[in-house]
Amino acid sequence: MWYWYLPILGAMVGAQAPSGGHPCAPLDFGNQSVVCQCNATYCDTPGPVALPPVGNFSVYESSRAGKRLQVTSGAFSKSPPLPQDLVLALNYNKRFQSIKGFGGAVTDSAALNILALSDRTQQNLLRAYFSGEGIGYNILRVPMGSCDFSSRIYTYLDTEGDFSMETFRLQMEDTKLKIPLIQKVKELSERPISLFASPWTSPPWMKTNGAVTGKGSLKGQPGDQYHQTWAKYFIRFLDEYAKYNVTFWAVTVENEPTAGLISDYPFQSLGFTPEHMRDFIATDLGPAFANSSHSQVKIMILDDSRLLLPYWAKVILSDLKAARYVHGLAVHWYLDAIAPADVTLGHTHQLYPDYFLFASEACTGSMPWNKGVSLGCWDRGNQYSHSIIEDLNHHVTGWTDWNLALDIEGGPTWVDNNVDSPIIVDVSKDVFYKQPMFYHMGHFR
Ligand SMILES: *[C@@H]1O[C@H](CO)[C@@H](O)[C@H](O)[C@H]1NC(C)=O
Ligand SMILES: *[C@@H]1O[C@H](CO)[C@@H](O)[C@H](O)[C@H]1NC(C)=O
Ligand SMILES: *[C@@H]1O[C@H](CO)[C@@H](O)[C@H](O)[C@H]1NC(C)=O
Ligand SMILES: *[C@@H]1O[C@H](CO)[C@@H](O)[C@H](O)[C@H]1NC(C)=O
Ligand SMILES: *[C@@H]1O[C@H](CO)[C@@H](O)[C@H](O)[C@H]1NC(C)=O
Repeated sequence: MWYWYLPILGAMVGAQAPSGGHPCAPLDFGNQSVVCQCNATYCDTPGPVALPPVGNFSVYESSRAGKRLQVTSGAFSKSPPLPQDLVLALNYNKRFQSIKGFGGAVTDSAALNILALSDRTQQNLLRAYFSGEGIGYNILRVPMGSCDFSSRIYTYLDTEGDFSMETFRLQMEDTKLKIPLIQKVKELSERPISLFASPWTSPPWMKTNGAVTGKGSLKGQPGDQYHQTWAKYFIRFLDEYAKYNVTFWAVTVENEPTAGLISDYPFQSLGFTPEHMRDFIATDLGPAFANSSHSQVKIMILDDSRLLLPYWAKVILSDLKAARYVHGLAVHWYLDAIAPADVTLGHTHQLYPDYFLFASEACTGSMPWNKGVSLGCWDRGNQYSHSIIEDLNHHVTGWTDWNLALDIEGGPTWVDNNVDSPIIVDVSKDVFYKQPMFYHMGHFR
């Protein structure tokens, strides 16, 4: 155990900020705190992160009052601590989970917003998220087909009854938006980017309700042609993206599988009970992955509220035929307030320590009483930090935000499910605003 003494009133006074950064260009919309405005020629950055010499420290601070990853440095005290000092105790012998990383989602809407900016503004935005001088994201989530953050509804196999998948096609949203954006990210990132894909709906003709929305599941039973084709659809998606040199670390079996069990659910969904997902993995999806060139791609179950844990884990992971194909459990944050972390994440980890836990979606501005964009809202940044700290304290190995960027209305979204994002773009001015949430994410890289 090492104790380091941080003489708050001593070395911090007169500490110098390391050079290389650019300060926030603040803009106040009257919502608690400021956003930082970036354009074609200017964007704030804390500068490259460098480790200070042994015995010295760097502090990165963001605050409601306006600090944004502001760097100061100083030296640890060698004398015994005074009452006002902060004492940090590091125990190198106690190890916890290794961290996969942090990131966000390349939805159709995020890609549309980012690519509508001028080249130089776009470059500033991508550098802010993905470069070493930015906040160093290394995770990207990619929807397989359309979702609520699309301008229209489509799947890759809209021809009824095409079980041989002759008409399977990536769409304009893939080839003109998401793939070009992913390629740009991979070019500028110094770290490898890990991608994971999630489907929202299967083609409607494969579903019990014949529609992309509402209450509906795959027709028939695991092992039949609907289930086999839906499994092959995943492989085909990975094959088609691989043609553009875009390869994946993981997939989730289904985005929010319980959404498709709810009557009149408003946007793309595909319902699974845990038993149905277990048998689909054991009979169709697992064997399809194992017998493909994507056998190294990891399969995550759940991708839904942690309220469903540990029940979903018990149903799927206690079945050896399904469990052998599964690597991790993905959770969304929306119902965390009614699902304490220890009895959900903690208990699941105790029962199944060999399966990693991973946060696959979160956003603010999604609740009916607090909907849409709030430029400069500090509390929403605090919600991100609170969730990340709580998750990391309960074995979670990574945290994925939702849309990388939205427009000033929190869209586009064909179903008017407008929400907030750490980056809001205003294409009419060729600018983007970095919200407090962006900096809260940045403190965890
Ligand atoms: C870009 O932002 C900087 C800093 O806020 C500002 O000084 C500059 O005028 C802006 N440029 C344009 C073209 O708006
Ligand atoms: C480390 O701290 C010492 C003591 O405050 C200071 O003299 C020195 O400049 C610091 N070095 C760096 C690289 O910050
Ligand atoms: C994929 O990468 C390979 C090797 O780097 C390169 O030869 C090929 O042109 C790339 N293909 C595409 C479609 O970018
Ligand atoms: C594995 O794939 C091959 C060709 O890709 C196919 O012929 C074979 O039926 C598949 N086996 C299983 C068990 O799915
Ligand atoms: C908060 O931000 C929104 C834009 O996101 C703006 O419409 C609104 O006027 C701002 N101020 C207040 C007090 O809500």
